[in-house]
Amino acid sequence: MLRAEALECSGCRQACHVMLYSDTESKLFGKTPIKHIVLMQMRFDGLLGFPGGLVKPSEETLEAGLSRELLEEIGIALPISVEDHVESRFAPTSSPSSSSSSSSRLIIHFYVKKIEEELIREVEKAAASTAADHGLEVLGMVRVPLYTLKSGAGLSFFLSHSFIGNARSQLVRSLLRLHLVSPNELHKALAQTLQMHARSAEDLQEALAFTEVQKRHF
Ligand code: APR
Ligand code: MG
Repeated sequence: MLRAEALECSGCRQACHVMLYSDTESKLFGKTPIKHIVLMQMRFDGLLGFPGGLVKPSEETLEAGLSRELLEEIGIALPISVEDHVESRFAPTSSPSSSSSSSSRLIIHFYVKKIEEELIREVEKAAASTAADHGLEVLGMVRVPLYTLKSGAGLSFFLSHSFIGNARSQLVRSLLRLHLVSPNELHKALAQTLQMHARSAEDLQEALAFTEVQKRHF
C-alpha cells in the first residue's frame, strides 16, 4: 500500500516504526568485524520490535509523529523524512473479526534511517537515561548480531526470539535490501533458526514439567 493511500483511511489507526542503523569498524572479541549496528528494542510485552508507535495523522505528519515517539522511547527526537519511508501495510490481525471493521484496523508504516555510529551510541545512552519510556514501555535497546560465529551463534539465535507483528520480516527484508547480510548467510541463519525452534520446544516442555511439579508443592 502507498503511504498516500494509507493516509486516506481516516478510520484506521496508524503507527510508524523505524530501523536505525550505522556502519562500524568495531570488532567482537577484537577479531570478528560486526560491520553494522542495527537497533531494535525489547518491548514491555516481552517482544522485540522497532522504536516508534501510534501517530495522529489529524494533528501531525507521519514522520513528525514518529519523531515524537522516538523522543519518548529513545530520548532523542531524531528527524525522520518521507525519503526514509520503506512500506505501509495493514498489521497482521490475530482474529478475523477485527479485520472486518475498518475502525479497528491498524496500518503500520516502516522506515529505515542510516545514521553515524556516534549518534547510535548517543541514542543508546539517551534511551537508557533520559527517555521517558525507559523501563516502562521500552525495557531496553538491543543491537542485532548480524554475524554468524563458527559455533553457529549470532544472527540465527537472535531471529529465534519472539517479535511483535511483522517486525521479524521487516528486519529480514531490510537486511537484504540494504545488503547488510548476504542472502546466502541469511538463508543459512534462518534454516538454523528453524532447527533451534524444535530444541527450544523441548526446553520449554521440560521447564513446564518442572513448574508442574513445583505447583503441587505450594
Ligand atoms: N509490525 C506490526 N505491528 C507492530 C509492529 C510491527 N513491527 N510494531 C508494533 N506494532 C503494533 C503494536 O502491536 C501496537 O498495536 O503497532 C501498534 C503500535 O505500536 P507500539 O510501538 O506498540 O505503540 P506505542 O504508541 O509505542 O505504544 C502505545 O500500545 O500496546 C499498546 O498499551 C500499549 O500504551 C501502549 C500503546
Ligand atoms: Mg512503541
